[in-house]
Amino acid sequence: MTGTMNLRSRAQLLGCVLGLRSLALVLWGIPGARALDNGLAMTPTMGWLHWERFMCNTDCEEDPDSCVSEKLFMQMADLMDSEGWRDVGYEYLCIDDCWMAPQRDSKGRLQADPKRFPGGIRRLADYVHGKGLKLGIYADVGKLTCAGFPGSYGYYDIDAKTFADWGVDLLKFDGCHFDTLVDLADGYKYMSLALNRTGRSIVYSCEWPLYMMPFRKPNYTEVREYCNHWRNFADIYDAWQSVKSVLDWTSSNQEKIVDAAGPGGWNDPDMLVIGNFGLSWDQQITQMALWAIMAAPLFMSNDLRQISPQAKALLQDKDVIAINQDPLGKQGYRLRKEDNIEVWERPLSDFAWAVAMVNLQEIGGPRFHTISLASLGGGLACLPACLITELLPVKGKLGFYEWTSSLKLRINPTGTVLLRLDRTN
Ligand code: GLA
Repeated sequence: MTGTMNLRSRAQLLGCVLGLRSLALVLWGIPGARALDNGLAMTPTMGWLHWERFMCNTDCEEDPDSCVSEKLFMQMADLMDSEGWRDVGYEYLCIDDCWMAPQRDSKGRLQADPKRFPGGIRRLADYVHGKGLKLGIYADVGKLTCAGFPGSYGYYDIDAKTFADWGVDLLKFDGCHFDTLVDLADGYKYMSLALNRTGRSIVYSCEWPLYMMPFRKPNYTEVREYCNHWRNFADIYDAWQSVKSVLDWTSSNQEKIVDAAGPGGWNDPDMLVIGNFGLSWDQQITQMALWAIMAAPLFMSNDLRQISPQAKALLQDKDVIAINQDPLGKQGYRLRKEDNIEVWERPLSDFAWAVAMVNLQEIGGPRFHTISLASLGGGLACLPACLITELLPVKGKLGFYEWTSSLKLRINPTGTVLLRLDRTN
C-alpha cells in the first residue's frame, strides 16, 4: 500500500517537474516580434517548388519532360487544379533557380530563358492565376544566383518592379555570391521594402539566416520584420539522413528559433520530399507530421504527374494540414528524447495540442512507448480530460482519457505517431 502511494506521488511529482519544464518551453512560443507587415503568410505558405526534384535541369532537348521550362510549370498548374492540391491549400506554384536567360535585357531587366519559357513569365503567371493558383519566382541577393545566373545586387528596385509587373506572388530570395555581411543584410532588407513599394502582395521567402550563420548569430527579431519565412539550415535532399538532420538542427536550436515564428513569419525547414524516391513510407509520415508540428511552410518538391496514391493521400491529409495551418500560429518543439524516442508537441487553437512521437531507432522492429498525459502541454493538454485522435499513421479516435492516465503506442522504426488532443471538461 505504502509502496503504491509512493509510486503515485513520485509520478505526480515527476509530472509537475516535466510540466513546469514544458511550460517554459510553451512560453517561448509567443511571438514577441513584429512580423513583416504585408498581411501575407498568416499561416505557413503552401505550394510546390521545383528545386529538390528538378534542380537545374536546363536540357530540354535531352529531357523535355523534366527540364525547367514553362511546360513543366503549366503541367504542374493543371494538376494542382485537377487533382485536388489547390483545394487542400497548396496554392503557390514556385519556380526556383535556372529560369533565367544568362543576360539581363537592354533595359537591365531579368528575362526568362527564351527557349525554355517562350511565352515569358507574365504569360505563365496569367496561366497559373487562371487555375486559381499563385506564381512564385526565384532571385538572389548577390551578384549571381547559386547556379550562376544573374543576381539582383544593384538591381533590387528593377527586379521587384519586374516581378510585380509580371504578376508574381512570391519571391524566393537566395543568398549566394554576396560580398560582405553588410551587403547580405542590407540586400535582404532592401528587397523586402522594394517589394512592398511595388504595391503588389508578394510573399517574401528569405535564406538570410542560413547565409549569415557561419559568421554571425542571426537576429530573428529583425529577420521576422523583413521576411515571411526564412531558411536556417542546409538544403534538403531526398533521404532520411537529410530529414533527420533538419529535425536535429531544429531541436538543438529551438530555444533560438521557436519564438521567432508566428502569423506572418515562419522558420522554413525546406521542401517536402514526400512522393519521391528516397524516403520509406514511415519516413514520409515522419516528414509530414514534423513539418506540421514545426509550423513549416509546405512546399512539395515532387512530380505531381507521377505520384503514388499513398503519398498523395498523405500530402493531402486535411487533419494534418489543419495542424500545420493552425491559426494560433505557434511553432512546436521537442519536449524530450528518451531511449531514441522523441516526443514533440505543438499548442493549437482552442487549447488543443498536437503531439508527435518519433522512433529514431533504426535497428529492430516497432517499439512501444508509454506517455504520461500529465507530461504534455505543460501539464495542461489533457486537464482534466481529453479526446485523443490518432492522425498518423492510421486515422482513428483513440477515445477519452483522464489527466492521470497514460497512453501506450507502437511506433515503427524511423516512423512517427501523430496525435491530436482536444481538451474536454
Ligand atoms: C540554394 C538554395 C536552394 C536552391 C538552390 C538553387 O542552394 O538553398 O534551395 O534554391 O540554391 O541554386
